[in-house]
Amino acid sequence: MNALYTLSLWLHIVAAGVWIGSMVFLGAAVTPALRRPDPDYERVAPRLLEEIGLRYRAVGWGSLALLLLTGIFNLGLRGYGWADLWEGTLFAGPFGRALLWKLAWVALLVAITLWHDVRVGPRAAALLRSPPPDPEAHRRERERLRRLAAGMGWAMLLLSLAIAYWGVLLARGGFL
Ligand code: HEM
Repeated sequence: MNALYTLSLWLHIVAAGVWIGSMVFLGAAVTPALRRPDPDYERVAPRLLEEIGLRYRAVGWGSLALLLLTGIFNLGLRGYGWADLWEGTLFAGPFGRALLWKLAWVALLVAITLWHDVRVGPRAAALLRSPPPDPEAHRRERERLRRLAAGMGWAMLLLSLAIAYWGVLLARGGFL
């Protein structure tokens, strides 16, 4: 049981590292590099960003799914069962309240990630494939989507850091 718990916690921490680390890499290295004001970069940057986004999707959703599975497993190994969820005892006491906060942030994170993948990403891709005839309207819409995606990226990173903080509270105590 102890080895299983260690393995599950290890997977949880590795998945959190992959999820947060790849967001930092994307925001700190990939997107600034592709925004370089150089015609060669400008020509390939949007297609490259789309390709990177699509390839990254499996890793991103895979690590989120692993976080959810190992998180539920950790709760089971801490002695919580489905009955605690239905009866509300899962969210009682300082541990339960910290868990409730963490899960609320996770729900918001999943909603923003879905919005990004289902709405904003496909819109940006469609804009690239069939740009509007007016070049000024095209430039404005591209800039709007870029700002929106950047804002969402920041929100996802800050939320993920807050979730990791709540995770440490759960694991080590010191509840707020
Ligand atoms: C983006 C999503 C998540 C991130 C970044 C994250 C991150 C973390 C981190 C950094 C820890 C601290 C580990 C340690 O200090 O040993 C932790 C612990 C924990 N997390 Fe998560 N987590 C996420 C999602 C979830 C979900 C969805 C659940 C529940 C369904 C969950 C349940 C737990 C539990 C119960 C612990 C305490 C483990 C223990 O000590 O037994 N986490 N998490």
